[in-house]
Amino acid sequence: MKRTKQEAINFAVFRLPALSVNEGVARAAVAAFCAQMAPTATELSDIKCAVSEAVTNCVVHAYRERAGHFTVTVLLFPDRRVRIAVRDRGCGIPDVKKAREPLFTTDAAGERSGMGFTVMESFMDKLTVRSVPGRGTLVVMEKQFGGGAKRT
Ligand SMILES: Nc1ncnc2c1ncn2[C@@H]1O[C@H](COP(=O)(O)OP(=O)(O)OP(=O)(O)O)[C@@H](O)[C@H]1O
Ligand SMILES: [Mg+2]
Repeated sequence: MKRTKQEAINFAVFRLPALSVNEGVARAAVAAFCAQMAPTATELSDIKCAVSEAVTNCVVHAYRERAGHFTVTVLLFPDRRVRIAVRDRGCGIPDVKKAREPLFTTDAAGERSGMGFTVMESFMDKLTVRSVPGRGTLVVMEKQFGGGAKRT
């Protein structure tokens, strides 16, 4: 069952410039917000890793040589499920299926391992990626706190 934003018991929206310093800011902000659901240390660490990867992609890939912003929206649902959306208005991804493959990277400098989406997928219960070249990218991740990876 798809939950709508109106069903959330609490939500937060963070909009930040796509600067590397803001990767840590976004990660800490999401973790602080999720603390109200009393997640386990592992659940919190999983979420931080996933947010870190999604935001790093906005910083590293979305805007290339120009400045830009990203928005992180966190929704908490009554059944203790969290949904985190990370959106940018950058260059977009021409082939999302390919980009999600482990080890795929467009980084020519050899600094990236192409594992960001794989990390997000493994630490969260659900990952969807929508992207339009020239318009931007939306990454939506969900996780169920309190065990059980229900995908309803
Ligand atoms: N927000 C984005 N905007 C534009 N391109 C993106 C974005 N996110 C990912 N990509 C593209 O998808 C590819 C795969 O992303 P992924 O995070 O899996 O690996 P990576 O960023 O290249 O390496 P790593 O995350 O391991 O440092 C990237 O190399 C990039 O081409
Ligand atoms: Mg990445």
